[in-house]
Amino acid sequence: MAAELTKGGLDRVLVLEVARVTEAAAIAAARLRGQGNNKGADKAAVDAMRRQLGRVNIRGRVVIGEGEMDEAPMLYIGEEVGTGDGPRVDIAVDPLEGTTICAKDMPNALAVIAISEEGGLLNAPDMYMDKIAIGPGYPEGIIDLDKPVAQVIADLAKAKGVPQREITACILDRPRHQEIIDAVRKAGAGIRLIPDGDIAGVIWTTDPDQTGIDVYLGSGGAPEGVLAAAALRCIGGQMQGRLKPSNDEEVKRAHSMGIKDIKRKYSMSDMAADDVIFSATGVTSGSLLEGVRFHGEFASTETVVMRSKTGTVRRIKTTFRDLEMKGWG
Ligand code: FBP
Repeated sequence: MAAELTKGGLDRVLVLEVARVTEAAAIAAARLRGQGNNKGADKAAVDAMRRQLGRVNIRGRVVIGEGEMDEAPMLYIGEEVGTGDGPRVDIAVDPLEGTTICAKDMPNALAVIAISEEGGLLNAPDMYMDKIAIGPGYPEGIIDLDKPVAQVIADLAKAKGVPQREITACILDRPRHQEIIDAVRKAGAGIRLIPDGDIAGVIWTTDPDQTGIDVYLGSGGAPEGVLAAAALRCIGGQMQGRLKPSNDEEVKRAHSMGIKDIKRKYSMSDMAADDVIFSATGVTSGSLLEGVRFHGEFASTETVVMRSKTGTVRRIKTTFRDLEMKGWG
């Protein structure tokens, strides 16, 4: 059955199709796990993702991809993907989120995609974005990028009914975050510093009982910000992002991509509107997903795939055989 846009939004058949796309990318990247080859693993994931997207009945346009046409041979911004037969959709991809963690075989490398109806995803340029995110259950508007960090911690602790020392923030371990790190610690809260992978960092906030993370803070890639917002849109939660250009070139680039107000604070719905499907497959094992396992002719994967319209979150464990035949040998 061809996937079609119904009055109600994206066709539900696409949920499984997008899961297949991240499964293929994850298996390809996992073949190069721990080899110290960031670029090689990324390329393998990109190739596999593009091949798999080519089988999906969509007229897809990449709005977040591997870069501009002149700098990325595949999955570049504006590239048309899919069979060209189905509905028009916008696509955001990160075929290998955490290239360094994959190259070092450390936890939480993922293959990630989000698709939406046309115009449903912020066309974020490849630059930094300041981010703040929390999971569901808090009063609307409790987080704000312009609120002092100490106040954010105090408000979250009060809303959760716990002392501030029981709040944990997830932050990328970067020198640029020292001020935020100091402010969180001064407020008495804990910090989980992560080496890379802030899409997972944001998603962790949606299940603090399991992950121990209440809030995500700090700057990371803007494309990763949009993908994280798409995930949060499906599970529930709140997020804000604001572009953080490093120079005039980046400001110009943002303008050329249609962004008028560079200082605008984007809410979760500004970044991922309407009907969105998000899928992530583990490349290396982490607390979000198991990584790919190879056993001879077999490979197994774990994927989380979700849809904002229904709020359904599926975890899919898949076993593949005949890897040679599929080109994954
Ligand atoms: P890559 O997969 O491109 O290596 O990105 C990993 C990542 O940690 C992202 O999760 C994050 O948004 C970004 O890099 C942070 O950038 P930087 O390493 O420059 O701080």
